Amino acid sequence: MAKIIDGKVISAAVKEKIAAEVRGLKEKGIVPGLAVIIVGEDPASKVYVSNKKKACEQLGMYSVEYALPENTQIDELLKLIDNLNKDSKINGILCQLPLPRHLDEDAVINAILPEKDVDAFHPVNVGKIMNGDYDFLPCTPAGIMEMLEYEGIDVTGKNCVVIGRSNIVGKPMAMLLLHKNGTVTITHSKTKDLAAFCRNADILVAAVGRAKFVTEDMVKEGAVVIDVGINRMADGKLCGDVDFDAAEKKASYITPVPGGVGPMTIATLMKNTLTAAKKQNKIV
Ligand code: GUN
Repeated sequence: MAKIIDGKVISAAVKEKIAAEVRGLKEKGIVPGLAVIIVGEDPASKVYVSNKKKACEQLGMYSVEYALPENTQIDELLKLIDNLNKDSKINGILCQLPLPRHLDEDAVINAILPEKDVDAFHPVNVGKIMNGDYDFLPCTPAGIMEMLEYEGIDVTGKNCVVIGRSNIVGKPMAMLLLHKNGTVTITHSKTKDLAAFCRNADILVAAVGRAKFVTEDMVKEGAVVIDVGINRMADGKLCGDVDFDAAEKKASYITPVPGGVGPMTIATLMKNTLTAAKKQNKIV
């Protein structure tokens, strides 16, 4: 049976360190501030945004939410971002994705100042990550790396297989595993015999967005299985991209859903907001 990697426990440890630093900054009159923008009514996005705001409050950070209607036009959104870029109380800006289809996500990402881009989605930050010299790391992949480190799982020389090639998870995840000397394969919907790649993985990261996509036959005996998926089932329950009950029998480590990667994403966002506040206030 696999050891469960508990994202709630690990994220609590990370957040405690951040809270201590926030208390130290407050003595200098600095309060890290995060602006979160959400456009439209996507129920999952609403939950994520509310969790992000709650985490700010819990850690003593300032946060402000802009909940904009579905029919918001790009000019209004870009104007809001421009104002937040100039607002000294705001150190980090996050626009929850996906956006409604009529809004150009790239235009929005490009409009956020790189130094306030706590998602690390701006091309400047993406380029820095590629070069291995960065200020921020994207929240979900960095949270996963933190989990591996916490559990003492060494990536060097391991076969790492990432399922999914999104800009938010798959691509940066592959890069961070590569930085830690993993041998990395990115698989996706067009991959031929995807199961064969997965069966060869010492570390398998599933970020496909399909419930129970990873079945028992795709998991190597002793593999580390990281589940990024959060899928809502017909009965209302949350389910990952991995068939947990089956994979747990073969894996050495596995993350649950919920309570695995999700809390780590938020902890990393808090870390990035703290880093942004320190940099903008010239505290190294
Ligand atoms: N949508 C899903 N994950 C994320 C994330 O990490 N940041 C933003 N902005 N949107 C998301």
